[in-house]
Amino acid sequence: MGFIDSLNQTAEYIESYLHDNISFKGSSRVLDEAMAYSLLGGGKRLRAYLVTEFCELCGRIRSASADYACAIEMIHAFSLIHDDLPAMDNDDMRRGKPSNHIAFGEATAILAGDSLALDAFKTICLSTNCSPEQNEKAVIALSEYAGSGGMCAGQQYDIDGEGKKLTLDELKRLVDLKTGALFSCACVLGCIAASASDEQTEAAKRFGLLTGRAFQITDDLLDIHSTPEELGKTVGKDILQEKSTFASLLGERNAREYAEQCIDESLSCLSLFPDSESKARLAEFCRFILERKK
Ligand code: IPE
Ligand code: IPE
Ligand code: MG
Ligand code: MG
Ligand code: MG
Repeated sequence: MGFIDSLNQTAEYIESYLHDNISFKGSSRVLDEAMAYSLLGGGKRLRAYLVTEFCELCGRIRSASADYACAIEMIHAFSLIHDDLPAMDNDDMRRGKPSNHIAFGEATAILAGDSLALDAFKTICLSTNCSPEQNEKAVIALSEYAGSGGMCAGQQYDIDGEGKKLTLDELKRLVDLKTGALFSCACVLGCIAASASDEQTEAAKRFGLLTGRAFQITDDLLDIHSTPEELGKTVGKDILQEKSTFASLLGERNAREYAEQCIDESLSCLSLFPDSESKARLAEFCRFILERKK
């Protein structure tokens, strides 16, 4: 099976797994609805795909990492809800429908994000597909890559960087944290589920960082050139909000070239893994990152 079929299959599987395994039986119906609104029914599920693909690449059946894949999609959904809030990017549209705070109000959106973030850790802790030791490692990884040493710090730099001209190193730090960290985390979670070696895990981490960097560059280019209909989210906002992006710093052409370089380097991270269908799909994933329209 090629990458696109595998991504579609993973998306379908994770969607129904989330539906069946995340109970949404908290104490508030409205909060449950707001969480389900952003977690189910949309998203490319790229991070879930990376978790399960690295699990298979490192020699274990993909479904063993399903809980970890769900957990990272919960963290990702939380990050998107908060990213769209008026105090952050102030975006009204996400995945082709009104943003969470437009549908449920700001307070509920904040709480839905908080709840998804916290419930993600329970999802890992209660996983019976992996050992308690693996679950502990996964919890530590997810909190490190998502929290104040990862995605949240990147979001802070993103906000701080509005209206400023950052250096290339500052911009890399921003992007590597806000986006690269969760991509890296996804690859590392797959490695943890498969008990991969330290060497494999390091290579997976770097693969995630570089593909995440390239992914954010294409996101920023799509913000300039796509339409809300195609992208399912608002466009043209980065220039309006004077965001620091590779396109604004280097120009669009150099930004695209730089994304290609990151992808070339990410492909070389795969060299220490044995040849397999999984590895071939990851190479296709790399091309998809550059060519995607959504
Ligand atoms: C959007 O990520 C946030 C960025 C890091 C640019 P995705 O484009 O993966 O979002 P979904 O899950 O497919 O909606
Ligand atoms: C990444 O950046 C967002 C997160 C890390 C949550 P963007 O702000 O560019 O993402 P979009 O374009 O709103 O999806
Ligand atoms: Mg943002
Ligand atoms: Mg945004
Ligand atoms: Mg964007």
